[in-house]
Amino acid sequence: MQNKQSIHGAWANRWIFILAATGSAVGLGNIWKFPYIAGENGGGAFVLVYLFCILLVGVPIMMAEVLVGRRGRQSPINSMRETAYEAGHHGRWAGVGWLGALAGFFIFSFYSVVAGWVLYYIAGMGSGLFIDIGSEQAGQIFNGLLADPQTLLIWHTLFVVLVMMVIAGGVNKGLERATRILMPLLFVLLFVLLIYSMNSGYFGAGWDFLFSFDTSALSGEAVLEALGHAFFTLSLGMGSIMAYGSYMGKKDSIGGTVLTIAALDTVVALIAGLAIFPIVFANQLDPAEGAGLMFVTLPVAFSQMAGGQVFGFLFFLMVGFAAWTSAISLMEPGAAWLVETLGLSRVRASILLGVIVWALGVLALGSFNLTSDLLVFGMTVFEFLDFLTANVMLPLGGFLVALFVGWYLTREMTEDELSLRSSFVYQLWRFVIRFVSPAAVAVIFALKIYEKLAA
Ligand code: PHE
Repeated sequence: MQNKQSIHGAWANRWIFILAATGSAVGLGNIWKFPYIAGENGGGAFVLVYLFCILLVGVPIMMAEVLVGRRGRQSPINSMRETAYEAGHHGRWAGVGWLGALAGFFIFSFYSVVAGWVLYYIAGMGSGLFIDIGSEQAGQIFNGLLADPQTLLIWHTLFVVLVMMVIAGGVNKGLERATRILMPLLFVLLFVLLIYSMNSGYFGAGWDFLFSFDTSALSGEAVLEALGHAFFTLSLGMGSIMAYGSYMGKKDSIGGTVLTIAALDTVVALIAGLAIFPIVFANQLDPAEGAGLMFVTLPVAFSQMAGGQVFGFLFFLMVGFAAWTSAISLMEPGAAWLVETLGLSRVRASILLGVIVWALGVLALGSFNLTSDLLVFGMTVFEFLDFLTANVMLPLGGFLVALFVGWYLTREMTEDELSLRSSFVYQLWRFVIRFVSPAAVAVIFALKIYEKLAA
């Protein structure tokens, strides 16, 4: 049992696992979403809570997910069931895997729409659409894109196809190959971006905005948003990391690996913030501009700098790579399950999933044009899918995984799987996963509901 392998394959080595999981974690969440929600929630105070959530909730739960995946060696749905059986419990725990698969579909649907904008911007930068524009024109180009369902549809479709191609290749010829090519490129591009932002003149203003921790600005809303984002950005609560963990080598240490992944993810988000906010302040733009922040501010900056077209092209290319490697991980849990349980080939599994997420994406894309009047709880379908997944389904999924691993798996199982060198670190992790992480999620939810009722 302990040494079994996944039927889908295994990562070549520990670093490939780290890079693949980092590819999952680093995505639109870091470069597009983090800066704009930090901007909407006042900057520093939000960032502080977010960092706490990563450390106290994200890291321990990521360890728990990898542990279950590697122990079960199957798709999240089946690994949850297997490990529950192994610990002498009910197979109903597979339900957590199902909840995650559903969340994965929902995330993919709006993710792919935004990734489609990115592809459009790559093409636009390449063809000179953004030469010599001011912030007004940048806004017009972005709003024009949103108002045009046909163009959105084309790029959304292209993105879904790109992801399907990788999923169809399987763990080694698909996921691992994409990781080996895309991740080094992503890091090189990110480094270039950092250098640029440090020379942009307004670096200090961006820094202050992100790191001046004024806690008086914190609302229950912001805290829930920070928690939800911690799950979203680390790809937790829906099975991506669990699925990737099932391809991990038995001897590799889970603790060190997970810390590396979380650190890389956090660094990328902060660099993205440090690249975007200086430009926002340099151009007197509004940091609370919302979902368009990256798509409106950056083209303005690129249009004014020497070599900006090339640089803008590279920037959006990097975002595109990041989105691609994340979307692959959104689809992998479902693909693995289809192969294991229904006996589909990888190609068929990827086509089936591709069609489902494509159709859901079409619904999300209408929120900016044809169906902008359709509101769910006062939100457009696009906003609702984002809110429902990031702020409700992922924290709930993570909460259940913490309960499962902390209270239902046997101590022997978790101790054996983590094989931490120091027993103190193991005790600490166990305490956090049993009490601290679930309590943090519960308290934040309660706070939010209380705030709603009181309002
Ligand atoms: N972590 C990814 C990002 O930050 C999004 C994602 C969420 C991917 C959940 C997989 C699972 O963009």
